[in-house]
Amino acid sequence: MDSNISQKVNLPNSIVLTRRGQKHKDAQDSGNVTFEEALSVVNEMVFAKTGKHLNKPEIDVMRGAWHDKDYGEIASDSIYKLNYLQRVVGARLWDTLSDVLGNGERVTKKRLRECLEQVVQEHYLQYVANSINKGQIKGRNLPDFSSFYGRTKELASLKEIVFKQRCVLLLGVAGIGKSTLAAKLLAEFSLESEPQFDCLIWKSVSHAPLFQDFVLDLLEILQPSKLSDSDLPKYTQAMITMLIKQLQSRRCLLVLDEYDSLFKAIGLEQRLEYSLFFRRFIEELDQGCLLLTSRFLTGDIENMLITEKPIDCLKLEGLDTDAAINFLNTQGLHDKEKISDLVETYRANPGEMKAVINRINHFFGGDSETFFEHKTTLISSRFEAMLNEMFGQLLSDLQRQILIYLAERIALTSQSVQFTQLLSDPKFKNNVSGSTLEVIRALEQLESMSLIESNKNADTKAITFTLQPVIKKYITTDPLGLVHVADTSTLKFAS
Ligand SMILES: Nc1ncnc2c1ncn2[C@@H]1O[C@H](COP(=O)(O)OP(=O)(O)OP(=O)(O)O)[C@@H](O)[C@H]1O
Ligand SMILES: [Mg+2]
Repeated sequence: MDSNISQKVNLPNSIVLTRRGQKHKDAQDSGNVTFEEALSVVNEMVFAKTGKHLNKPEIDVMRGAWHDKDYGEIASDSIYKLNYLQRVVGARLWDTLSDVLGNGERVTKKRLRECLEQVVQEHYLQYVANSINKGQIKGRNLPDFSSFYGRTKELASLKEIVFKQRCVLLLGVAGIGKSTLAAKLLAEFSLESEPQFDCLIWKSVSHAPLFQDFVLDLLEILQPSKLSDSDLPKYTQAMITMLIKQLQSRRCLLVLDEYDSLFKAIGLEQRLEYSLFFRRFIEELDQGCLLLTSRFLTGDIENMLITEKPIDCLKLEGLDTDAAINFLNTQGLHDKEKISDLVETYRANPGEMKAVINRINHFFGGDSETFFEHKTTLISSRFEAMLNEMFGQLLSDLQRQILIYLAERIALTSQSVQFTQLLSDPKFKNNVSGSTLEVIRALEQLESMSLIESNKNADTKAITFTLQPVIKKYITTDPLGLVHVADTSTLKFAS
């Protein structure tokens, strides 16, 4: 597989989350359980049994045990003395935990992590459901993340930056897991023993609501008293002021899912109203964060990224290899070669891999052997819809021509294409309009949308570009005729 998948996109303030090198050992967390999740579940169980929550020294000992530290190390990370932690707190804690979690077995410092992970696997979802019901997470229709793999590094990065920034854009192609990750993030925050946000809101804008309905909806969530249309000020600025006032009084993490829909379905006036709200949120609030999920970088956010605003962009890539293997195992695939084939072809995109497995189940009776005998690159309807939209509405002529050129070259040579070759090949030059600068800019934008992948040769430093198989297939088959449209360009290629 091309190592270009881990390239950083050329966006200001951007962080790229890749599926390479993700297994970071320090991990708070093994598998999918973080210490904070485990703690919040166990804390509630201890409370249910003893009527008391775990206290600070007990939590310090548990955190240390989770990270396999000895009492000396635990004491040096804590304000409490070694003797007290080991002889008083520890001894009592292992009795309590054995009583609450042990199922007849002793919970020791060595076994703590294993016991907690097991308990959390069993109880986590129930606690998340409770936190949604208890109103810790406000909003409707959170995506299902009951079967969630990997993303340890991404969650850790997100937790850090949503706390630092006023706005974070979670960027990635269809099905890569943006909504699932954002929902999981809210769930983790909702389970924190010492909450960093006092208000967690999930709001999908996939239906591109009118701005005034959007404001009303948020005010209803933030204000307990019932509001009606007539309570809303008439003018956009005043509406926003009302909303900002509500948001100012708390530290709020507001997720707007499928933010890109706002840029497809609504008119310019509506779009400006939303942009104004984002700008004022970022500029006027000194706490809280707006987390937007989107398939592409929108103009308003791009403009703000260029300035020094507290805004960041995270590009999400496929699952890390271990997580992808676990994910496919649970979908019934166990053959190592077939797994690595799917991971490679679909770039560990969970939505795409799920769609392939569904088709194997539907058309091949779940028999992956037979599917691989008739092997083909499948495109899910979700991914195809995204590409239809991109080719139909979003991409410039130059970007389209670059993609066509790359697809044709790669189909011919099965090799990625050098940047200098792209610039000098008459087949490309004669077909496109735009200067070298424009070509560079177009390549940057295509990369930020994950439509192309780049790779830098370690020795020669030469940069090459390639396409993931699904995108190459879409371009070469051109299912709706949106790729090879008549070239309307008039400009000449200039160096
Ligand atoms: N970490 C994960 N572990 C297991 N399954 C996942 C994970 N992330 C996403 N999925 C699954 O992949 C599918 C796509 O995820 P999701 O809807 O979050 O993608 P998305 O990036 O929001 O896509 P879109 O751009 O279409 O909104 C879902 O079925 C989801 O359950
Ligand atoms: Mg989504």
